[in-house]
Amino acid sequence: MIIRTAKIKDLPAVLKLDLMLKKDQNRYNKKYFALAGEKSLVKETKKFLKGKLNSKKSRIFIAEANGKIIGICMAELEKRPPIFKYRNNGFIESVYVLPVFRGKGIGTLLLKSAIKWLKKNKMSFITLAVHEQNIPAINAYKKSGFVNFFNKMLKVL
Ligand SMILES: CC(C)(COP(=O)(O)OP(=O)(O)OC[C@H]1O[C@@H](n2cnc3c(N)ncnc32)[C@H](O)[C@@H]1OP(=O)(O)O)[C@@H](O)C(=O)NCCC(=O)NCCS
Repeated sequence: MIIRTAKIKDLPAVLKLDLMLKKDQNRYNKKYFALAGEKSLVKETKKFLKGKLNSKKSRIFIAEANGKIIGICMAELEKRPPIFKYRNNGFIESVYVLPVFRGKGIGTLLLKSAIKWLKKNKMSFITLAVHEQNIPAINAYKKSGFVNFFNKMLKVL
């Protein structure tokens, strides 16, 4: 198993896993998370990921075993408004490992690569969002050094 940076040729495999992630997250809140499988979502996600793969401000890390992509993790560089003391904000999203490969340290290795890249790019800190009921992900993030920081609230209209 290796961790490497995704290239544009990896787009179909990355898209597949990202859509699986969306389907997975949908169970936490059916109104908030998109419903994977809808044609427009597939098209839009493909365009979104293509933009990320071509951007210098983002990087998608992938875990590959025997030529098959089994995990993904996206890292982004953000410049925040002057109101914040630390303006270089690293952001992590789209962390997903195929179910049969979970619990073997792959998520942790993907996060390690993302954190290393964000640090190298002089980010002051890293933020990410995780649903409060997603215990495996919360534990994985805590293991990689993340702490609870903000209580994000939601009101459905
Ligand atoms: C979150 C996720 C990426 C973790 O990947 P993983 O490869 O299984 O993670 P690791 O094997 O590196 O585990 C790291 C830590 O996470 C925690 N963890 C992993 N699976 C867990 C589970 N089923 N229940 C509780 N904690 C769990 C453990 O603390 C573990 O450390 P340990 O092995 O020393 O006990 C994976 O569960 C996943 O793809 N989930 C679905 C997608 C998702 O929710 N992504 C996050 C969106 S914000």
